[in-house]
Amino acid sequence: MVEETDVAGRASSAGRASSAGRASSTGRASSTEHEAMARAVSLARTPDVRTHPNPQVGAVLLDATGAEIGSGFHRGVDHSHAEIEALAQAGHLARGATAVVTLEPCNHTGRTGPCSEALINAGVVRAVYGQPDPNPLARGGADALAAAGIDVEGGVLAEEARSLNPVWSFAMERQRPLVTWKFAATLDGRVAAADKTSRWISSAESRAEVHRIRAEVDAVVIGTGTVLADDPHLTVRDERGVLLSRQPLRVVVGERRLPTAARVLDSAAPTLVAETRDVSVVLDTLFARDVHHVLLEGGPTLAAAFLRADLTDRVIGYVGPRLLGSGPALVGALDVDTISDAVELTIDDVCLVGGDIRWTARLHGSAPLFINPDPATTDTERAD
Ligand SMILES: NC(=O)c1ccc[n+]([C@@H]2O[C@H](COP(=O)([O-])OP(=O)(O)OC[C@H]3O[C@@H](n4cnc5c(N)ncnc54)[C@H](OP(=O)(O)O)[C@@H]3O)[C@@H](O)[C@H]2O)c1
Repeated sequence: MVEETDVAGRASSAGRASSAGRASSTGRASSTEHEAMARAVSLARTPDVRTHPNPQVGAVLLDATGAEIGSGFHRGVDHSHAEIEALAQAGHLARGATAVVTLEPCNHTGRTGPCSEALINAGVVRAVYGQPDPNPLARGGADALAAAGIDVEGGVLAEEARSLNPVWSFAMERQRPLVTWKFAATLDGRVAAADKTSRWISSAESRAEVHRIRAEVDAVVIGTGTVLADDPHLTVRDERGVLLSRQPLRVVVGERRLPTAARVLDSAAPTLVAETRDVSVVLDTLFARDVHHVLLEGGPTLAAAFLRADLTDRVIGYVGPRLLGSGPALVGALDVDTISDAVELTIDDVCLVGGDIRWTARLHGSAPLFINPDPATTDTERAD
């Protein structure tokens, strides 16, 4: 059972729909169209635009001579899709135009109507897109355009286009959030001392970095064991200790009742209490709430549960230069009895943060890393 307490309302997914991109690149795109795609990518990257839970998308319309007659980018929920912005700029000139869009045009009615339909109605004759829509549940944009007689070409600057939305793409492809497991441990792999004390296993710089990572995810997940042992707040604060206006959803997983005074239940941020030990159910519930990136900050029991379920994608570990000799190990039982069954990770990066070794690794595919450390704000944040 998943029980919700003190949860702030969140927008549901607008879920740009469309197809798996059966129109693959044929190499027919002209250099003008490639340049237009590069411009569409940079439009989609317009700074300070938060489109979550939608992807960042850019679009450019070209007339028959290759001149730009309209452009646009998606500004987020309750705003037009990029294609619609570009069509509005072009007006009647869109008839006979080529649409160049970073993501396969949607074919789905959510908060807005399908972009495929808008492009067809506007009289566009060619559509070039970058990334095939990764959402398997909402396909059809390229096919709808092609069925209407529009010349469709996909896969143009596809990698650049996908790089606009790595987390969203990952979540849509797998229909679950990306899971990044973060831990702080001693050199001998302990996450707490024998008396369960664990504060300041890592440096102030590492703890500050964790706040910045939290600020970028949609949910922070811990088990009841960590609530009972540490009573963490799990909020994000700025360098002066002030709560940020946007807080990730706090999620506590486990069957035990929490003390009503637990800090994670306060009103500083929304909290979901998931009274279950089934981590797949937790991720399904979170995905349905538009959570695309989870930061797993639980103890060894929950970390092991995610690993056993094969639901851990990335690992960020801070290893402090201290030894405890006893205390809980980094991870609980993994059902591994022999070395050949070990959970294998691929290390992406190792560096020093404060006095700690920070290493980042991945378990699934080649999901890119999403840390945005800004050394200018590392020194004064609290870690709880
Ligand atoms: N250094 C670090 O990075 C770090 C981070 C977090 C915690 N810690 C330390 O870790 C210790 C707490 O460890 P912990 O393992 O108890 O914390 P935890 O992993 O956060 O919570 C464990 C609890 O989660 C629940 N749970 C949810 N799904 C489960 C599943 N599939 N299987 C089993 N249990 C599940 C169980 O509680 P129910 O009985 O309620 O179901 C279980 O007792 C503390 O000393 C804390 O300081 C260290």
